[in-house]
Amino acid sequence: MRLLFLGDIVGRPGRNAVSERLPALRERWRLDCVVINGENAAGGFGITEAICDEVLSAGADVITLGNHAFDQREALVFIERQPRLLRPVNFPPGTPGRGVTMMETRNGARVLVVNVIGRLFMDALDDPFAAIDRELDACPLGQAADAIVIDVHAEATSEKQALAYYVDGRASLVVGTHTHAPTADHRILPSGTAFQSDAGMCGDYDSVLGMSKDEPIRRFLQKTPGSRLEASSGEGALSGLAVEIDDRTGLAARVAAVRLGPNIEESWPRFWD
Ligand SMILES: [Fe+2]
Ligand SMILES: [Fe+2]
Repeated sequence: MRLLFLGDIVGRPGRNAVSERLPALRERWRLDCVVINGENAAGGFGITEAICDEVLSAGADVITLGNHAFDQREALVFIERQPRLLRPVNFPPGTPGRGVTMMETRNGARVLVVNVIGRLFMDALDDPFAAIDRELDACPLGQAADAIVIDVHAEATSEKQALAYYVDGRASLVVGTHTHAPTADHRILPSGTAFQSDAGMCGDYDSVLGMSKDEPIRRFLQKTPGSRLEASSGEGALSGLAVEIDDRTGLAARVAAVRLGPNIEESWPRFWD
């Protein structure tokens, strides 16, 4: 199974990079499953229903979210009717939407996708480790699912690495999102789970985390109220991880960084060309 995971879409540059590049990549690499984090897709803050539809039509199978899940308040409503849009599974009980979904690939393989949010340097929420345990117990890899993808939306690299090793051998991929900077530590853990601390962002890399640079710089220089953060307006790049999953075990066989577009060094999986 060929899986592509892409990090946080930030604003229009990120959306354009996805809609301009993903359809061709899906074809060229014969991707079975594409998961994209979309928590910053609407001007850097949340996601609207129109944008969600746009990202799904570009070739995403499932969209995950994070701390910005409900920045666009319409998401509180439309998430209920969009089973392919996930918010973190460990949000409090009663939060609209769901944190886990099962998708079926064209070949009939079942892929469980889980979105979970970390607690270190983030809002206090339920234990992500216990939440993941519950989901993996309910749907074990190789029995109830042919592949399992976990998006760990978290600030701290330690928390993401700890969670990855905690589930090593029980998931196909544990990938971090939220920091918007791709890490160079993508690898397959000893028991077969693919891992990357952060997938990076789909957005304009000539920016501060995808936002226009002036206001973030000003906020570090002065503590006075300023203007709103705005998504950067340059050309966007894609960033994430390509994973080949063993059809028999559901574990990772090969991983490669995917970075395509301007202002960041390009990288792609040589094994699919
Ligand atoms: Fe983000
Ligand atoms: Fe985030």
